[in-house]
Amino acid sequence: VSMQKFLEKLPKAELHVHLEGTLEADLKISLAKRNNHPLKSSTVEDIRQGYVYNDLPSFLAFYYEGVELLQTEQDFHDLCYAYLAKVAQQNVLYTEMFFDPQLHIRRGLDFGTVIRGFNAAQEKAERDFGIRSSLIMCFIREMSAESADETFTQALPYLEQPDRSRIIGVGLDSDEKGNPPAKFAKIFARAKAMGLHLTMHCDLDQENTHEHIRQALQDLGSERLDHGLNVLERPELITMAREKGVTFTLCPSPNDVIRPGRSRQDIRDMLAAGLKITINSDDPGYMQSVYMTESLAKAQAAADLTPEELFQISRNAFEAAWISDAERETYL
Ligand code: ADE
Ligand code: ZN
Repeated sequence: VSMQKFLEKLPKAELHVHLEGTLEADLKISLAKRNNHPLKSSTVEDIRQGYVYNDLPSFLAFYYEGVELLQTEQDFHDLCYAYLAKVAQQNVLYTEMFFDPQLHIRRGLDFGTVIRGFNAAQEKAERDFGIRSSLIMCFIREMSAESADETFTQALPYLEQPDRSRIIGVGLDSDEKGNPPAKFAKIFARAKAMGLHLTMHCDLDQENTHEHIRQALQDLGSERLDHGLNVLERPELITMAREKGVTFTLCPSPNDVIRPGRSRQDIRDMLAAGLKITINSDDPGYMQSVYMTESLAKAQAAADLTPEELFQISRNAFEAAWISDAERETYL
C-alpha cells in the first residue's frame, strides 16, 4: 500500500489541538451571519488568503479575532462537532482538545455555555462516529495569574466532575515571551493536587525557552511538553525529559507557517535522542486545514519516517493519553 493509504488507515490519537484553532473559514461565515457579526472578508478564499503569519503573536491576532465569533452554546457545539466529524474520518479514535476559557469569559460569556456546547458535541460525535474525546483547559500566559485563578474558580464545579465535564487536564498557551511557567506555579500546583493532568506549551524562537522547559518539567511537574523542540539544544534537558518519560506533542504545520526557518530535521533528532514524540495538528482551521493525516504526512516527508516509526509515534500518543488503562487497551 502507498504511504498515503497507510497514513489514512493508521489508528490515531491527537494530543495537541486547540478547539478555537479548528475554526474553518466556512464556519466563520455561518457564525458571522447567525450572530450578526461583521467580517472583514466575506468569502472562504479571501479569509484563507488573509492568513499571513510572521510569528506567534501575529498568528494569535487572527486567532483572537476568530474567537469573537463564538457566542452561544450552539456555536461552541458546532465548532467542536465539525472538528470531531472531520478527524473521525481520518481514523482518529481519541483526541484531547485544548480550549481557552479566558478568551470567552473576558467577553462576558459563562464558563457553562462553553462547556455545555463542547460536551454536547462530544457526546453526539461519539454516538455518530465512535470517536472519544476529552478537554484540556488552558491558561492564557500573557494574562495575569489572578485571571487564571479566577477562571479556575469559575471552572471548579466542572473540574470536580470530570466524568461529566470531560475536563481532564490544564495547559498553558498563547504568548510565551516574558511569561514563564513559574508565573502560574500556584494554579498548576492546585490543579495537580486535584488530580488534574498538566501540560504546557514551550515553543520556539523565544529567548528563555530552555529555562521555561526546565521550570515546566522540574518545578511544575508538567507531564507533557507541547512543542518543546528546544530541548535538543540542551543535553541536560534531553536527559531530564528522558528520565521523566515526558511525551512531546509536535506540530509540523505551525512549524512551517508561524516558525519559518525551523528545520524539521528536529523530528529525526528527537527520535535519535530517544525522546517520545507525537505528531499533532495544533490549529488546523488557520493552517491550510492540515489535520492529523496531513500532519503525519508532513512529518513523514520532512524526516523520512518509516511505517514502523510512524506506527510507534501513533502508539506513543495512545500511551501518553490521559485515559484509563482499560480504555488504552481497547486502542492498542
Ligand atoms: N494558542 C492557540 N494556538 C497556539 C499555538 N500554536 N501556540 C501557542 N498558543 C496557541
Ligand atoms: Zn498549540
